[in-house]
Amino acid sequence: MTKRALYTGSFDPMTNGHLDIITRSSKMFDELVVGVIVNPNKKPLFTKEERVKLIEEVTADLKNVTVECFDGLLADYVNKNHFDAVVRGLRATSDFEYEIQMAQMNACLFDKGIESVFLMTSPKYSFISSSMIKEVVSLGGCVDGLVPEIILKEIKAKYIK
Ligand code: COA
Repeated sequence: MTKRALYTGSFDPMTNGHLDIITRSSKMFDELVVGVIVNPNKKPLFTKEERVKLIEEVTADLKNVTVECFDGLLADYVNKNHFDAVVRGLRATSDFEYEIQMAQMNACLFDKGIESVFLMTSPKYSFISSSMIKEVVSLGGCVDGLVPEIILKEIKAKYIK
């Protein structure tokens, strides 16, 4: 039976930390969908279409990975599309509190048998967030090795006119 998982987030923009989780979880499932979510609490730098396109470019060599965009309740999307699991990355103990709360709420909302699966982020990327990357680039700092090159180029293009 095909096992399908969803790895979701705002990805504004995707970093090498996200790519690490995508690459590793793509080996654990037959199909992995990267779900770009429109988070109404965040004011994004990239449009959802730009974020989807960038992730597609970066993950082009991962043949079982596709990228989609959605909004609304995560559990509704997961149930409707019959995923088997939702993948989340844990960077530090500070992520744990929020993640366990979300996983337990989702456990009440998911259809039977759907699991939240957690992968520890590689220590190389455990301190990264999309906001921090954007802030450093906007102030002229170097983030080489922390974001895919194609994406770094696009962040610079947004800030450096
Ligand atoms: N490497 C690098 N950075 C990472 C990372 C990793 N492995 N994992 C997370 N991050 C960063 C993200 O870039 C993000 O940075 P930012 O805050 O600067 O943008 C930050 O850590 C938080 O990531 P995440 O927790 O994935 O937040 P998000 O906004 O990207 O996504 C959702 C949050 C989508 C999971 C959540 O809001 C959701 O499910 N929303 C749908 C509505 C819903 O169902 N709500 C009820 C939930 S019970």
